[in-house]
Amino acid sequence: MQHFLSAKGLSKEWLEDLFQQTDWVRRDFGDPFYPTNKIMISFFAEPSTRTRFSFEAAAAHLGWKVLSEPCATNSSSLRKGESLKDTFRTLSQYGDIIVCRHPDPDWVDTAQKYSRVPVVNAGSGDGEHPTQALLDLYTIKREIGRLDNLRVMLCGDLKHSRTVHSLVELLKMYRADMYLIPSSSHENFMEYNLPRAYYDGYDRWHTDPEAAEDLLPIMDVVYMTRMQTERHGQHWQQALYKFFCLNADNIKKMKPEATILHPLPRGSEISEDVDDDPRAAYHERQVRNGLYVRVALLKSLLP
Ligand code: NCD
Repeated sequence: MQHFLSAKGLSKEWLEDLFQQTDWVRRDFGDPFYPTNKIMISFFAEPSTRTRFSFEAAAAHLGWKVLSEPCATNSSSLRKGESLKDTFRTLSQYGDIIVCRHPDPDWVDTAQKYSRVPVVNAGSGDGEHPTQALLDLYTIKREIGRLDNLRVMLCGDLKHSRTVHSLVELLKMYRADMYLIPSSSHENFMEYNLPRAYYDGYDRWHTDPEAAEDLLPIMDVVYMTRMQTERHGQHWQQALYKFFCLNADNIKKMKPEATILHPLPRGSEISEDVDDDPRAAYHERQVRNGLYVRVALLKSLLP
């Protein structure tokens, strides 16, 4: 039984094979297929639009049945104080695979121990979001045409953005130069930079939040994230945040062949006048790729 819980420890061979499968899914999407008789449990204890619907659409595409719990904190027995341990033990009696999102970053360890069926991490608090990293990397490959030695700017709440935490693990494998542009809050002297643990053993980091605009002309990928205010506890003071924003004016500095990504939802870090720029992949191509990658991943976990 294979779970998919982290972007750590994946191999290039595995990624390339998955992306090959994803290319085939994309090419043949909509063609007749032979449905397999599987049940996917979609168990979300945090809000989601793209991740949950794309997993559920992917399962539907495969002809699977979906048991969907979009509001697990309120309507599952978690509300009555049931542990995640008991929850996974129970859910794995009803489905063939569980896709889960929960605010506790450690839920993945519990799932690994107590689920009797494969579990996919659809977001573990401020820890990881490995399937988002797969679709981000696949999008970079399609937009830029290669993955090796890219210059990638990562902007926003790098401390709490789980999509960034998983994506950097994959970008390290392809020797990307990563330019960190963390947001900050002057009032509390907080800087929302990437946690130390993600830096270790890698030397191609650059961090200079003030230079973001000057760096735009050399970037292949600009990856924006929103302020994760729901994870800031008592520091939540939106008016005082300082973060780099993209707008129709400063994107003129970017290369014509560069790409702009965002896992969405966005705050004010990308102004709406960027949306129609051909380099803006986030609203359509990146989202759509999420569907294709998740079809390929689900198929690989439950062949
Ligand atoms: C992200 C998430 O939930 O981590 N969204 C997503 O899954 N596409 C990003 C975010 O919430 O900021």
